[in-house]
Amino acid sequence: MLSIGIEGTAHTVGIGLVDESCNILANEFAIYSPAKGGIHPREAANFHAENVVPLIRRALEAASADFRDVDLIAFSQGPGLGPCLRTVATAARALSLSLGVPILGVNHCVAHLEIGRKTTGCRDPVLLYVSGGNTQVIAFSNKRYRVFGETLDIGIGNLLDKFGREIGLTFPCGPKVEELASSGNDLLDLPYSVMGMDVAFSGMLTAALQLRSSGAGDSDVCYSLQETAFSMLTEVSERAMAHIDKDEILLGGGVARNKRLQSMVSKMAGDRGAEMFVPAGELCVDNGAMIAWTGILMHDSGIRMSIPETIVKQRFRTDGVDVDWL
Ligand code: ATP
Ligand code: FE2
Repeated sequence: MLSIGIEGTAHTVGIGLVDESCNILANEFAIYSPAKGGIHPREAANFHAENVVPLIRRALEAASADFRDVDLIAFSQGPGLGPCLRTVATAARALSLSLGVPILGVNHCVAHLEIGRKTTGCRDPVLLYVSGGNTQVIAFSNKRYRVFGETLDIGIGNLLDKFGREIGLTFPCGPKVEELASSGNDLLDLPYSVMGMDVAFSGMLTAALQLRSSGAGDSDVCYSLQETAFSMLTEVSERAMAHIDKDEILLGGGVARNKRLQSMVSKMAGDRGAEMFVPAGELCVDNGAMIAWTGILMHDSGIRMSIPETIVKQRFRTDGVDVDWL
């Protein structure tokens, strides 16, 4: 079984080619980076439209495969930006119809979890899913991946990107904030907003910008942002693990690449006799391989979709998917 996964929920358009044992034969991508300001959905969609076919060709070449070898088309059905989702869905439908192979729409958040579970070897983790647009604490319970906690406003990556943009960094700003933070050491006061299992970050963004205008150095503000925001995420992850009695924590999403976040979560896990798992960097960020692999899991469990059922879902919830494969 050779599955082609097409990812395109936001900035990244990615193509993955994966087989039934989760061998990743190709994982090609391109990232839309606006010259200035935030992401413009239609411009990102145009970028995806221009890049999707060349990326498919590149992926097939990298895997030394041919269109005739493809058995399944999987694509990111949501959640994400409408124009981007519609662009990749159209590409997926065209491919499915012209090759005469099945098509499956995949929940992007579930795909982050499944590629992490498969490639790190953890069994039944709490997933801390931290990306630009999403921040969720997820675990499997009663046939679905349930969201135990989440951000009430912006995603953690969005916090880092918006702050970074204000101080003149280019997208994606997370890695540059991480670098600046490594030379900071003065922990400045920022709002710590944890409400039960939920978190909020927009107040922290405003406060961080105010600290900067009143003279604080970039390194110290970046350091304080990371320490405060990551402590909040570590706290809610620990609470979820304790409540639902899980001894594994899996990181996913682009911010999972951050070494300071990894060290905080790993310390928390170690202290409670649990274990942390982090997928390879290129599988943390948005990628086609995770979509291709989740497509295989769905297909193997008997799920099939007609073309009308592949309509995109901008607000596709993690807990809106029947996880028939577990
Ligand atoms: P989603 O649709 O899941 O919200 P996304 O478009 O945010 O996806 P991802 O590729 O999962 O995409 O994550 C990108 C985010 O990860 C960006 O906000 C980026 O700044 C952040 N990021 C990447 N590397 C790091 C890092 N080392 N430290 C902190 N943040 C990082
Ligand atoms: Fe993502």
